[in-house]
Amino acid sequence: MAQSSPLDAYIAGLPKAELHLHIEGSLEPELMFELAQRNNVAIPYDSVQAVRAAYDFSNLQDFLDIYYAGAAVLLTRQDFEYLAFAYFQRAAADNVRHAEIFFDPQTHTDRGVPFGVVVEGLIAGIDRAKAELGVSSGLILSFLRHLTEDEAFATLEAAKPYLHHFIGVGLDSSEVGHPPSKFQRVFAAARDLGLKLCAHAGEEGPPAYVHEALDLLHIDRIDHGNRSMEDESLIARLAAEQMTLTVCPLSNLKLCVVKDLKDHPVPEMLRRGLHVTLNSDDPSYFGGYVNENYSQLAQAVGLTREQVTQLAKNSFEGSFLSTEEKATLISEVESYAAKG
Ligand code: HPA
Ligand code: ZN
Repeated sequence: MAQSSPLDAYIAGLPKAELHLHIEGSLEPELMFELAQRNNVAIPYDSVQAVRAAYDFSNLQDFLDIYYAGAAVLLTRQDFEYLAFAYFQRAAADNVRHAEIFFDPQTHTDRGVPFGVVVEGLIAGIDRAKAELGVSSGLILSFLRHLTEDEAFATLEAAKPYLHHFIGVGLDSSEVGHPPSKFQRVFAAARDLGLKLCAHAGEEGPPAYVHEALDLLHIDRIDHGNRSMEDESLIARLAAEQMTLTVCPLSNLKLCVVKDLKDHPVPEMLRRGLHVTLNSDDPSYFGGYVNENYSQLAQAVGLTREQVTQLAKNSFEGSFLSTEEKATLISEVESYAAKG
């Protein structure tokens, strides 16, 4: 990015949570290359530079095609542990104190990688992050919405022996044509198992999908939600319910959800009283981890230090931590801001 400003330095030291991160989207080209060779998996690139050069997307599907192809290099428990720990090292460097991370089990089980290999590897990375970096986290099992409801149910069934490792379920992949209503029953079953519910909605899909996520899935948090801004009654409802939106500025730019970061809806969302958080989504593919999302957005739209502080507080408030844990972390943000 351009020259670093006093606000960038403030952002760098600000304690924050990351609530929208796909662990498969943190696979850096170097690790992709290394694992492709070690695991003898063919990838359509002959260098790390060629991998990076391929990251030029016109929409969500363009990205997803490359993202699923990249995930094919992940085979062993150790691969998933490395992947997770590498993300937590980056997150810790950005002063992320807590991360709630998605993983897509179907991307792996459909290639023959056992569910347990994926989960045990990720949990090993999570445990190391807590012990060695002091970053706490939770795992969110995300259903691929381009697949069927039956397949989502089968995934939930496969997850049952590992249920205590999960804080919630999510819904991701190709949005348009796969509305939340398709997964109403599986989300009800997940809720009965005591899991929190998140869904990507309003990234490319219309405001009606956000309404469905609220009314039919009864979600606890919305991932993205950008297109809610097209519907006045929805804006009022999201504000009244203080529903957390996990917004991802650099993702929105790379996937052409916004043409320019200057056009990003975050300032308007804040002005309308929405409970917004900033996150990196798939940082390896979109050009920046969480601090880069804060800094580039702040510079493009002119966020104030107070707004940036509010976004960090929102990240803890919107997490699935306990009330006590949230209060402790929010008071850390407040002391940091007071010293600021
Ligand atoms: N949207 C939908 N599915 C995804 C995304 C996203 O931004 N990232 C990874 N899977
Ligand atoms: Zn996402």
